Amino acid sequence: MIAKHIFGTPFDSEAAVLNVAVSSGTPAGFDTECGEKLVLSRPLTDNTVIYGLGENVRGINKRGYSYVSFCTDIAGHTETTASLYAAHNFVIFSDTELLGLFVDSPGRVTFDLGFTSGDTAKITVDRPDAVIYTFTGDSLTDITTQFRRLTGKSYIPPKWAFGYQQSRWGYRNADDVREVVRRCREVGCPLDSVYLDIDYMDDLKDFTVHPEAFGGFDGLKELSSELKEQGVRLVPIIDAGVKEQKGYDIYEEGCEKGYFCKDEKGDPFVVAVWPGRSVFPDVLNPDARRWFGSKYKRLLDCGIEGFWNDMNEPSIFYTPAGLNAAMDEVDSMRGKNVGIYDYFRLLGVFNEMSRRPEDLRSFYHDTPQGRVSHIDVHNLFGYNMTRAAQEAFREIEPDKRILLFSRASYIGMHRYSGLWTGDNCAWWSHLLLNIKMMPSLNMCGFIYSGADIGGFGSDTSEDLVMRWLQFGIFTPLMRNHSAWDTREQEVYRFRLAKEMSGVISLRYRLVPYLYSEFLKAVQNDGMLFRPLSFDYPDDPMSAQVEDQLMWGGSVMLAPVHQQNAAGRYVYLPEDMLCVRFRGADIVETVPMSSGHHYISIPLAELVLFVRPGHLLPLGNPADCVEHLDTEQLEIIGYGSGEITCELLDDDGITVSGIGCRFRYPRVCRENGEWRSNDDRLRLRITDRPADGDK
Ligand code: GLC
Repeated sequence: MIAKHIFGTPFDSEAAVLNVAVSSGTPAGFDTECGEKLVLSRPLTDNTVIYGLGENVRGINKRGYSYVSFCTDIAGHTETTASLYAAHNFVIFSDTELLGLFVDSPGRVTFDLGFTSGDTAKITVDRPDAVIYTFTGDSLTDITTQFRRLTGKSYIPPKWAFGYQQSRWGYRNADDVREVVRRCREVGCPLDSVYLDIDYMDDLKDFTVHPEAFGGFDGLKELSSELKEQGVRLVPIIDAGVKEQKGYDIYEEGCEKGYFCKDEKGDPFVVAVWPGRSVFPDVLNPDARRWFGSKYKRLLDCGIEGFWNDMNEPSIFYTPAGLNAAMDEVDSMRGKNVGIYDYFRLLGVFNEMSRRPEDLRSFYHDTPQGRVSHIDVHNLFGYNMTRAAQEAFREIEPDKRILLFSRASYIGMHRYSGLWTGDNCAWWSHLLLNIKMMPSLNMCGFIYSGADIGGFGSDTSEDLVMRWLQFGIFTPLMRNHSAWDTREQEVYRFRLAKEMSGVISLRYRLVPYLYSEFLKAVQNDGMLFRPLSFDYPDDPMSAQVEDQLMWGGSVMLAPVHQQNAAGRYVYLPEDMLCVRFRGADIVETVPMSSGHHYISIPLAELVLFVRPGHLLPLGNPADCVEHLDTEQLEIIGYGSGEITCELLDDDGITVSGIGCRFRYPRVCRENGEWRSNDDRLRLRITDRPADGDK
């Protein structure tokens, strides 16, 4: 059951797609105060577990910290970071009863979940204007599904986007890109795409191509078709900031039409980002959104089939006013004896320049709901920049799926694109964060998602890349990406290149199952990654497990996320089949009983667990998704009697064809032997004694 309450005059974020009748009174389950801010409070018992908040720091259980929904460019975040790149205001309180909450308000919202006071959750909306949805239901899955019905179906990318993707801020010209493809192929590393970071642009200007390094649009077109013949697509970046430069057509056109965010006087609001002085397209204005989206066509016309939208929190390095204020502050201390507090203030002056609320307050959007100050709708910028692109794709190539994902997001953006989790670091703690974040992202509808594998910032290590790949093969977006000033981390840079390529080959073997389970998660408003407690609600131990995940209907994952660990403890909520891989090959399948186990997992191996009565189909390795043979499958199973599954597939490219192909592998134990309904299936089924025979 969904209840909707409206406070004040909220800005319509367009997060919800269902029309829910407005209830009177205040939301059940919360004490409500509505003054200058809107505050919802709720007591927590010792047993309350809190799920949700999408992209955020800390655990699967969000209890015990205060999170702030305010999209922030925050490289190198740690557990005390309050806001990451996204604002995903959905939580479920799980206790003897379940209660879901979605705070639909595009400004700052603070979720103090038992931080200030351990027995109270207090949610504060900075302005007293919000739509509050509460959800009651039978299970965590039920509540999540209701929330997802409210907010609409998730984005589905083309199938090639489930292949391995290689990126680095540092591929400076066409030959650098060619070299990535060649060297991947040399070490037997499958590959579906190479990313173009800001260096492909001419002078860091959106929708341009560097005339020498990439040969302009014509050169890009040639490169794109040359690589496509090898099964590899190029995926260029688009930034939120448009360079302020006379003669740059996008800048001039946007100024002329009034399509940039404006300052108090109505002039384009100037900030500094990668290209230096820049302006933001006013993506909350439908005409400006259409205009900005139409510019992607320049790259689509070069054969480009995928994009990543960046810096769209929007990130601001500084504004001219902020820079002046910082300089003044420094000047004011010049020649003085700088005491200890002034010293700390001095240290902060330039760091804080990029996060000045007065900057966010001083520019405006012209929306169908009137002119609004940016700070009140801050969390909608990335969402609408991305919507601009997807709406344009739907107009330009209505039946073609284009890969699109964004750094900043709000609930509702999941209908238009996926996301990546921003600038992480080559830290083991960020691998663990990636693991913990996946189910929360899925709850919020972001199914096509993933983190920078290997870590974006700081120098990575061989074992971290290996372990991260071993988890990354399960995330729909599987991209290795790093910053220009860090150790190079393409798999061919390492002594273990062959072993890493083997892990990536296993990803390709998993694609038939991954793609099918992904489509089901979207179609059923479900989750590809789930905390164990979603599937085993009656098992209290499952709610304690923070580093294992259910993956699709058949599999449980227990990734290794600690350096030098040659294995790990794994909790099995029921008897399962432990499947051990070395590279793409299965080395053993061992039935294991429910409970706690220590499992040895050397660096070159990974394990996953198949649930009883379920099948895991595996394809053959391939060098790219297009070359996958989805007919011949090896079927892993664990059970007795008969086991079936439903496999969805399609042409991978058209929108109209999504999920059109069905297949129902079935295995059956007859006269002491496992047989299947399809002779293209190779069976690897392990008998599970019927309960009574154990
Ligand atoms: C931002 C992005 C990162 C990209 C860099 C340069 O930091 O998050 O992925 O490489 O900008 O464009």
